[in-house]
Formats: sequence, structure tokens, C-alpha cells
Amino acid sequence: MFAKPPDMFDRDDEWAALSRFAADDRPGATLGVVSGRRRQGKTFLLDALCKADGGFFFEATEAADAESLRRIGAQIGEYSKMALPPRPADWHEVLDALLALGADGPVTVAIDEFPYLAKANPELPSVIQAAFGPRREERLRSRTRLLLCGSAMSFMGGLLSGTAPLRGRAGLEMIVPTLDYRLAAQFWGIDDPRLAVLLYSVVGGTPAYRDGVAGGRGPRSAADLDGWVAENVLSRFSPLFREARYLLAEEPDIRAGAVYHSVLAAVAEGNGTRGGIAGYLERKATDISHHLSVLEDAGLLTRDVDVFRPGRSVYRISEPLIAFYHAIMRPEWSRLERRGQADQVWRDSARRFATGVVGPRFEQICRDWMQAYAPPEINGIPVSSVGSGLVNDPEQKKSHEIDVAAFGNAPGGQRVLLAIGEAKWAETIGTGHLARLRRIRDLLFRAGQPGAGTARLLLFGGTEPSAQIRAAIADGDLQFIGLNDLYD
Ligand SMILES: Nc1ncnc2c1ncn2[C@@H]1O[C@H](COP(=O)(O)OP(=O)(O)OP(=O)(O)O)[C@@H](O)[C@H]1O
Ligand SMILES: [Mg+2]
Repeated sequence: MFAKPPDMFDRDDEWAALSRFAADDRPGATLGVVSGRRRQGKTFLLDALCKADGGFFFEATEAADAESLRRIGAQIGEYSKMALPPRPADWHEVLDALLALGADGPVTVAIDEFPYLAKANPELPSVIQAAFGPRREERLRSRTRLLLCGSAMSFMGGLLSGTAPLRGRAGLEMIVPTLDYRLAAQFWGIDDPRLAVLLYSVVGGTPAYRDGVAGGRGPRSAADLDGWVAENVLSRFSPLFREARYLLAEEPDIRAGAVYHSVLAAVAEGNGTRGGIAGYLERKATDISHHLSVLEDAGLLTRDVDVFRPGRSVYRISEPLIAFYHAIMRPEWSRLERRGQADQVWRDSARRFATGVVGPRFEQICRDWMQAYAPPEINGIPVSSVGSGLVNDPEQKKSHEIDVAAFGNAPGGQRVLLAIGEAKWAETIGTGHLARLRRIRDLLFRAGQPGAGTARLLLFGGTEPSAQIRAAIADGDLQFIGLNDLYD
């Protein structure tokens, strides 16, 4: 295994898998695909790998096919110290030159921003398929470890799916994830859990947003947060100011479509269902289906299926910075951009930030905690899935929203409800919240939901609970989870 560079945070599993792939010295060239949303550290990983093992790294650009062919030819020539660099006539020649690099042993060959190449030449995946034919001599004699990398999620995922040419050819398929809320706090060096939630609600877990911003540091304290956000996110001169816009502009399908921005705005305003989004845009739900699936494929929207009503789903904005942009920055864009009123806008947005941005993000953090960090079993059954949903209340003629619902598989195989929870960021958790949860559990029980009778009640709070709640916690079926528990 290669040594992970000391400046690389976390990514141990990714590094181990890439090292294993790169160092595999069995005969025969192999192929891997690395994808993930923008700015998560794909290039950082592959570049470090190529540096560690002396591999070949090519970063494609948005260019005409002939120019890319010339560039990669020249770079192969330089890498293999040829007197005359090859001038490949087509990608078949390039692929054979790349296979030849691995003639004497395993060599990593990384092609970054692969979608640019495939866009300029749609035949490229088939050319690679042919070059990596299972019985092809040139492949069998080579130990090239070819990694194709790119951020156009739908395209990269599509490379290996269904009837795609490369299906069945790849020995490694990696999606580089964004850092979760706990890793993000560590990465930014934040110990105060309250501040960690607030910062995560602005910049999320994208590693690129720390370095190059404010000398690579986050706010020092909760008191420092307001000034930090104004200076590093809302100031028109800060690198993060235009980042959300760049992220959207870099998605080829999305940049030209005003409707996409309005869909994201609708979700940021709290209209997460298909009907709610359509209503916000004053369109029919069927008119926005395409937009929703494009945004979902690009990894910008996440669709959460209602755990109690599988026909209903709620869309959420995956990247916190984009949610922040749509809720706080976009509505005030001209004040921010033309007049530079970062401090004033931030002061005016305090309420919107707490309820529209941090509130929903906190609910997601609670679900993530439940899925990844909570004690793994409830009532002796491992938690297998976590989600949210609506529960019908026929007597009160309304429905109740459940922020956190955990399920597991009973020994007989039946899917059972293990816990339901309420998450409140700013409000103090009190007996009213508890009574509501008890009522919901009762409704679920009466509706025949398996496990509802014994489901645990979870109260997640961003602040300390009321005295009555603290007294009630002694009850076996009730648990309060505070900020310190979430960050442990
Ligand atoms: N694990 C990490 N530890 C420390 N810094 C990181 C890590 N991952 C990424 N970074 C920082 O984030 C920056 C951006 O990462 P990188 O350019 O590799 O992202 P990417 O996924 O290739 O994005 P894009 O799709 O935009 O090309 C890096 O230059 C580095 O400063
Ligand atoms: Mg990159």
C-alpha cells in the first residue's frame, strides 16, 4: 500500500481501495471509474495516487477532439521520455499507447474530467471497451491500471450501467462522497457542536471550501460566525460568493434552464413535494418531472421516499451551500452584488437562516446520526434504514410529519418500526412535543404498522430540553439526544 499524503484528511477507505487497484500486479490491464460531485476531492485523490506510484495523470479540458488527442500524445511522449512524442491519429492509438505504459508492471493511468473527452468524441467509451476486450493480446500483456474520472454524475454512472459499452469491464467503481456532518466539523477544526451545525448549514462537507477561504480556517467561536459568514460567503469579493452559481453553471444540462433554478428555489423555500414544487412554479406536476430527474441525476436534489407512504416523496437540496444560496443569497443578490451589503443582508436573514436553512439541515443531521452513529440496535434489532414521513390523523383531520423514523428487520424477516423522532433546532423540546410523538405512535399502532407498539420515542434538540422532559426521560421508551450526543 502507498502512504497516504499527510495533508489528506480522512478518505482512508478510498485511498486503500485505490492503492489496492493501482498496486495489483496480476497480468492484464484493468479499468476503474471514479465519480462524485464537484469539489469533493476526486482530482486530489488521483493526483496523490499518481504521485505516490509514479503514474500518468492526464486532465482533460473542454476542447475539440483533435486538440485533446494532440495534448495526450505529447504528454505520453514526455512521460515515457520518447525523443519524438506520438501524434495519435485516433483514440485507438492513444489506448494502445496507454496499455503499453504498463508493459513492465502495474502503472496507474488517470484520465480526469473524462466527460469532456467523451462529449467531444462520443465513440470513446466504445474505443475503450474494444481496447479492454477480455481476450485482447494488448490488454493481457499490459498491467496498466486505467482510472476514468469525472463529476458529471449521470454520465459517469451511465458508463457502467445497463447496455453501456463499459458495463462489466470495470474492476473498481468509486463515488467520492461529501464529508458527513461529523467529519466536516473535524475537517474545519470546530469543537463546539452548535457552531458546527451552523457552519455545516452554510458550507456543508465539501473539502474544497476550507482552503483558499479565509486562510483555510472557519469561525473561531460562535461569536465569530456572523462576521465570518459575511466576510467569507456573502462578501462579493470572497471565493465562495459565486460558488453556488458556478456549481449550477458547470452542469451542462442545467446552466441554460431558468426552470431548474426555480425548482431549487421552491425546495429551498420548503416546498419539497412534487406537487408543492409544481405549485410554486405554477405548472403541472408532469411538466417538471424531467427537471426533477435531471437535478436528481446531477446529485443536486435528493429524493427521500416517505417511509409510511411509498407513493409520496420529498425532495431536498443535497449540497448545503446551494440550499444556503437559494434561501439567503439569491433573493438578495442585487444588494449583495451591487451594493456589497453583506453585513446588513446577514442581519436581515437571521430568521430565515434559523428556520429555513438550519432547521431542515438539523433534521438531516439527526437522520444521519441515526443511520451512522447511533447505537446500532434498538430493542435488540439492528437499524437498517432511516427516513422521514407523514402520518395521517383522521380524527384531527390532518397529518403529522415525522422527522426521523428508524426501521429494522425482525428475526422473522418482517420490517418493523424501531423508533420515531422529532428534531427541533431552535425551539425548546417540551411536553407538547412528547405528547405529539406518543399520539403519532398510537396512530401508527392503530393503523397496523408493525413495531409501532414498542417503537422508541426520540427527541432531538439543539437546545436543552424543558425540566418536565428531563424528568420524563427516566421512562424506558423515551430518549433525548442533544448536540453533544450528535457529535459525541
Ligand atoms: N481529503 C482531503 N483533505 C484535504 N483537502 C482536500 C481533501 N479533498 C479535497 N481537498 C481540497 O479540496 C480541493 C478540491 O478538490 P478537487 O479539485 O480534488 O475536487 P474534485 O472532486 O476533483 O472537483 P471537480 O469535480 O471540481 O474537479 C483540493 O484542492 C484540496 O484543497
Ligand atoms: Mg477535479
